[in-house]
Amino acid sequence: MTTDDPFHWRAGVLYAEDVSCEQLAQRFGTPLYVYSRAALESAYRAFDEAFAELPHRVCFAVKANSNLAVLQTLARAGSGFDIVSGGELARVLAAGGDPAGIVFSGVGKAREEMAAALDAGIGCFNIESVAELDLLDRTARDKGMSAPVALRVNPDVDPKTHPYIATGLAQSKFGIAIADAPALYAEAMQRPGLQVVGLACHIGSQLLDLDPFEDALDRLLELAGQLQAQGVPLAHLDIGGGLGVRYGDELPPSPAAYAARLKPKLAATGLAVHLEPGRAIAANAGLLLTRVHYLKASSARNFAIVDAAMNDLLRPALYDAWQEIVAVHPHNGEDEQLLYDIVGPVCESGDFLGKQRPLALRADDLLAVRGAGAYGFVMASNYNTRPRPAEVLVDGGNEHLARARETLEDLMRGEQLLPEAGNG
Ligand code: LLP
Repeated sequence: MTTDDPFHWRAGVLYAEDVSCEQLAQRFGTPLYVYSRAALESAYRAFDEAFAELPHRVCFAVKANSNLAVLQTLARAGSGFDIVSGGELARVLAAGGDPAGIVFSGVGKAREEMAAALDAGIGCFNIESVAELDLLDRTARDKGMSAPVALRVNPDVDPKTHPYIATGLAQSKFGIAIADAPALYAEAMQRPGLQVVGLACHIGSQLLDLDPFEDALDRLLELAGQLQAQGVPLAHLDIGGGLGVRYGDELPPSPAAYAARLKPKLAATGLAVHLEPGRAIAANAGLLLTRVHYLKASSARNFAIVDAAMNDLLRPALYDAWQEIVAVHPHNGEDEQLLYDIVGPVCESGDFLGKQRPLALRADDLLAVRGAGAYGFVMASNYNTRPRPAEVLVDGGNEHLARARETLEDLMRGEQLLPEAGNG
């Protein structure tokens, strides 16, 4: 097996590393998320090696895939982590991640989340507003601590991506305007509860062009120079995540090309570099297996009604995202290819995984939705009281049940019926 191709065909059947997807579906049921350990590791290494000449830290964006076994795999490979909640902090710690390698992003950190992260000894808080700066200072001082901070600035560049996942424009809720940063750094340096260590930005996700990254970096570097002249002791620059992946016909730059474009300018600063890739590490290390329940033809459309739905994989419904759908054991040549809309059992017209896909299908066929390792399971819900899928991590010829399928008991846990009505 080549690690570049964790999901490949053997004798006409789709394999995950050395395990047949048909076998996985039979053993664990469907819908089923399947991840490849080798693919996770090689994607992590691609970033790590691309930045090897510089002092750097790759902090996997946990929001992309927060399964404990996935985090553990990356922690063992040496990854740091970018978290956005106390929940993600708990997961990274449970998975054996090094607290010093954690950066805490997000616009709305609560006091308890800050306190937990301080107790854990995380590497950096990326602060996004004056009010947040103030709360972190007070929270740290109450503990007799000093919190390592970077300010996340908003470089106001257009990442040319889907508007829901563009974060670096002036009208976005994220970050601090570059013009406001020098005063805020001066303020942060006055605060005994804060220790300034870096400068951060993140401009958006699924970026396929390197120009916006370079534009953002230019603005960041200009600001960094200004801050250093002002006496701000910067130790690192956090350039965020956002590198896109190939779902269909996109041609995303490789981590090596991304690094090659940014490295000369980064090297000149002498600062350490932090990265926060999520999708580029996990997306193509995973797929979602789903079985065809029924085929149904109307005058306008052929539908394949499958057992996975928008609650299991939300990206198509939410962003109109295109992810490749393949038959695990295609019977091309035997059956006619038709254009199918691949839809789930949820009662919404927006419940689809793909539209107008040329496939030769029969009921009970197994399909795989590719590119589902990032923003897949993590965005799943229980809408329509549907238990969330199981997750399996494949490692060579071994399969590890990384998360059991939810049960209806799991779904009703914590709910209570009303007490019996009194009869007097
Ligand atoms: N750092 C910060 C501060 C972020 O907000 C994000 C993603 C990342 C890093 C990781 O970005 P990545 O390398 O994965 O592009 N649910 C959407 C994606 C939302 C991304 C939000 N922030 C989707 O399914 O396309």
